[in-house]
Order: sequence, then structure tokens, then C-alpha cells
Amino acid sequence: MCGIVGYTGPREAYPIIIKGLKRLEYRGYDSTGVALQNGGVKVYKKKGKVAELEEAIVGKNLHAHVGIGHTRWATHGEPSDRNAHPHQSSSGKLAMIHNGIIENYSQLKNELIKKGYVFHSDTDTEVLLNFIEEIKTNNSCTLEEAVRIALKRVVGAYVILLVDADDPETIIAARKGSPLVIGIGKGEHFLGSDASPMLEYTKEVVYVNDYELAIVRPDELILKNLGNEKLTPYVQKLDLELAAIEKGGYEHFMLKEIFEQPQTIYDCLRGRLDASNGTITMSGIQQYADQIVKASRIVIIACGTSWHAGLVAEYIIEELCRINVEVEYASEFRYRNPVITKGDVIIAISQSGETADTLVAIETAKAKGAIILGVVNVVGSSIARISHGGAYTHAGPEIGVASTKAFTGQLAVLTMIALKIAYIKGSISHERYMHLLNELQEIPEKVAWVLKNSEHIKKIAEKYKDARDFLYLGRGYNFPVALEGALKLKEISYIHAEGYPAAEMKHGPIALVDDSLPVVFIATRDAYHEKIVSNMQEIKARKGRVISVITEGDEHSTSLSEDVMIIPEADEIVAPMLSVVPLQLLAYYIGVAKGQDVDKPRNLAKSVTVE
Ligand code: F6R
Repeated sequence: MCGIVGYTGPREAYPIIIKGLKRLEYRGYDSTGVALQNGGVKVYKKKGKVAELEEAIVGKNLHAHVGIGHTRWATHGEPSDRNAHPHQSSSGKLAMIHNGIIENYSQLKNELIKKGYVFHSDTDTEVLLNFIEEIKTNNSCTLEEAVRIALKRVVGAYVILLVDADDPETIIAARKGSPLVIGIGKGEHFLGSDASPMLEYTKEVVYVNDYELAIVRPDELILKNLGNEKLTPYVQKLDLELAAIEKGGYEHFMLKEIFEQPQTIYDCLRGRLDASNGTITMSGIQQYADQIVKASRIVIIACGTSWHAGLVAEYIIEELCRINVEVEYASEFRYRNPVITKGDVIIAISQSGETADTLVAIETAKAKGAIILGVVNVVGSSIARISHGGAYTHAGPEIGVASTKAFTGQLAVLTMIALKIAYIKGSISHERYMHLLNELQEIPEKVAWVLKNSEHIKKIAEKYKDARDFLYLGRGYNFPVALEGALKLKEISYIHAEGYPAAEMKHGPIALVDDSLPVVFIATRDAYHEKIVSNMQEIKARKGRVISVITEGDEHSTSLSEDVMIIPEADEIVAPMLSVVPLQLLAYYIGVAKGQDVDKPRNLAKSVTVE
């Protein structure tokens, strides 16, 4: 995780870096720091968010045309001033920021300690920096050469940016496993973990690949591999507007992103779904359609919320395509020598496209001959690039740390994939296929309908905000929605919440039920409805406080519930895109009512680029 920014050019570097870091705070916000070329390398850093550093250094001479900045999500060493990046080398001439983990840092550290190096932080970054400086001094070589030699010894993942007091216009950057984008301006260059820090200055960017090293000066970008061969930078045009990464009048990004869902789902369907002609156009899936149809199984790999989307997809694909689906946590999959044979189809789901565990799990499966289909939100991200095919979710930048619009985008894409495969395979009747296309097409409008009840959900949130625990229960397609609702609440409000299949409740969690426990039922009208109504009765009989997400007009469930959140009538296959929305709002409003920083919940980061 961690966000990195760099600038070299004629403008004042500090304001560009600070603004860029604020946009990257979704990647971590434990501490912040900048290094500026200002008659030597000057480093300012502090525990806390970007605004806290900004406030602490008001009045300092921050004039510089070259600089680097970092917002941290702690891995080695607690969040503190001394562990904040940038770190300075022993000589004080080099400063470095790092996103990633150096796994063999203790070995390198011991070697350096024997040579008399003293460390001022607990970080792996300071070790790598001094290792680079040691090589530079011993070999009397350039910083670029020293970095290249050092990286050959490094085990782990990194993006690093370095500045050198002896070469004040240059930034050296290198990448393996963490993202790095370089923006190309006129006589200036920008560096960032993503393109957001450079959006108002340039639309031309280069996504740096693993094992590449960049020498960045105002007028020059030299890209090399670690073998010192020059590479031709592949310049791409950014399709992203500034408005997409601003709050646009909403109090929080999370609320804005929840409310954007009618549009983002529409954008996801647009140009792909044609309900009147009965077609779904997805070229990144079409290419592999034969293999998918013939596959004896599909393995879905993801983490967190994306894993919940995968679980919904398992139910949908098995139902519509009659293909066996397994859903795997990427972190488990990558370490347990999974059985993958040539021709197996992997669907990797990721909002960021940078989640380290998902990335390595894909590489593992790819090496064993699997076909990788990525369902990814961030265009050009690592997972998108290493996948054979797939489809983007087109949800736009998701900045709130808790995932909302990416989840519904993933569901929309996965439902289209299932329908497309079912149609090609002939495992769905024409009538049902056409019905589901129409149902899908109506989702944006129905999500807008659900959002109109947000004030009602806010009142429910205020009523239950002091509960110590929550239980979320659902069946079938709504079981993963229960998991997702519980995850949202945990992340945003710090209230303990568990999601469970409603029937499993009797096998343990029912012991938790008393008159203080809110139990959220996702009880929309579907094939399991009667069953979940019985579960509601069971909770009510034990004095649990039943809150339910129900379909419009369901009087019976209403009579069993203390509070209800309503969605419009929809086929059960597409209903999760609706039933999750009240749960997103409930978590949001409870988080706000409890005074939490909902866009930046403690200990979390948006993009988990460490394992
Ligand atoms: C929860 C959340 C996380 C992510 C998970 C995977 O709100 O955002 O659980 O879903 O870290 O991230 P991606 O989808 O970027 O791979």
C-alpha cells in the first residue's frame, strides 16, 4: 500500500506533491512526508494524515522544483515520525520513499550494521536506502547503477523513488509488484502510485512495468530494465476527468460513490447489453468463450468485497451455466499448491487491480496453464494487464476505502458473463435469457429508487448506532450480501458484525441473540423467501431485534420486523445489486453517527499491495 508522488520540472513541487498525496490517502494515512531539493535534500515528515504534516510545516522554506512525497500504511515499524517516509541515507544526501515490503531486509540490515551503519527507524526502507548508498560509495558509481545492483539482491515488492543532493533535477524510480505511473508534461514529469496526482497537468502517462527502472528529469524520461537495456516507454492517454476524483458536494466519497451507482451500473452495461436484440457484447470474454463453455470448472479468486461478488457469481454461474464454480480467497489459494490444470478458467476479481495476493494467485494459476479472466475496475492496473481477457467494471475511481460502487459493478459484469456463457452453451432458455437481460437493464433505475429512501435508512442507523454487535443473515444469492453488509459495518463503524447463511444461524450464532442484538435479514422475495421468514420468526421468538431488507409490498415480513428497508421487485439473480444498497447506506450512516472517519477507517487502506 502507501501512496507515492514525485515531481521534477519548473513548477513549485511542494503543492503538487501535497495535493497528490491527499488524493492517494486512500492507500494509507498512518504518516506523511516529503523530500524537497532545496540546497540539499530537505525532509519533512510526521505521523498522521497529510493535512497534519501540512499544518506542522507552515512557515518553512518549502521552495523546490523537484521533490518526492509519501503517505504510509505501516508494514515494518509502528506509525510514528521516525518511521515515516522519506528516509535519508547515512550521508544525508539520498532520500527515498517506498511502497512495498523488502522481505530480506534483516539480512541486508545485519550486513550493514557490521559495516558500522546506524539505523534511525524500524523500516525495511531505510535498510534498502543505505544498502544502495553503500553500493554507490563502494563502486563510485551513479545512483542509477547503485539502484540497479541493489535491486538484484532484493527479495520482495517495491516501488521506490529516490532523490540525490548531488543530482538535484533527477528522480530515480523502480518498480516490482507495486504500481507506478509517470505523467509526461512539457518540460516536466510527474510520478504517482496512480494517475490522480497528475490529472490536471497531463493526460499522457506511462505505466511502469515490473523490473523496470526510470531516470526522470524535467526534459527526459529514460526507461530501462534491470539489465541496463533501454526500453521505449509506451505512452497511453488517460481517460479520466478531475471531477471523478472530487467529492462533488457530498460529505464523503463513500456517500458520493453509493449515490453514483445508478450511473456506474449504467456505464457498466452501456455498449454491452442490448436487451431489445438479446445480445451481450464483451470482446474480452468472447475471445475465450469456447474454452469457458468447455471448462469443467471455473475458479474465482479475489479478496474482501470482491470475494463476496465472486460468491454471488458462483451461485449465478452454477445456476445459469451449469459449470462447477469454486470461489477462493487469493491469500489461501496462492500458498496451498492448488490443483489447476491446463484449460481451467480463472476469474480474478479486483477493484484496484493491484491486490498483491490476487496478483500472485493469478500468476500461480497462469503458470499452470489456466486462462485468466480479469474483472477489474482500474484500467491499466497490474491484474488487468496480466489477465488474458476479461472485462472492466467501469465504475470510475473509487476513493472511499470501503468498496461500494465497485461491488455492484462487479456484480453487473459477472452477471453479464454468466448470461453470455449460458446463452452460448445453451444452458438457459431463450425466454429466461431475455427476461434476465431486461431485468439487468432495469437495475440502474431500481438502484435510484432504493436511494430515494436514504433518509429513512439514516433514521434506522441513528436508532441502532450504539449496538455492540450485529448479525446479518441471508440465503442463496443474498447470503454473500449478508457477508458484504457485515463487512461494510465493521469497516466503517468498528461495530462487530457477522454475516451468516440464515439457516446456519441455528448451528451456533443463535446463542448470541437477545433483546439487544440487531439482526439484519436480507429477505427479499426469492425462491428461499418462506425459509428466511421462518428464520425471522425464530429470531423474533428469542427477542432479537429484526431489521430486514425486503421487497416492496411484503406485508408479512414487515409485520415480523422492527424496521424495514425496501427494494423494488426484481429477479433473484439481479437482486443482490439492489439489496446491498440499503446495507451500504446503513453502514455509512452508522459510521457517521458514531463520528468515524468513514472514508479513511483506521488500519485500512484501499489498495492492499502487501500480502
Ligand atoms: C472492503 C474492501 C476490501 C477490498 C479488498 C480487495 O470494503 O474494499 O475488502 O474489497 O481489499 O480489493 P480489490 O478489489 O482492490 O482487489
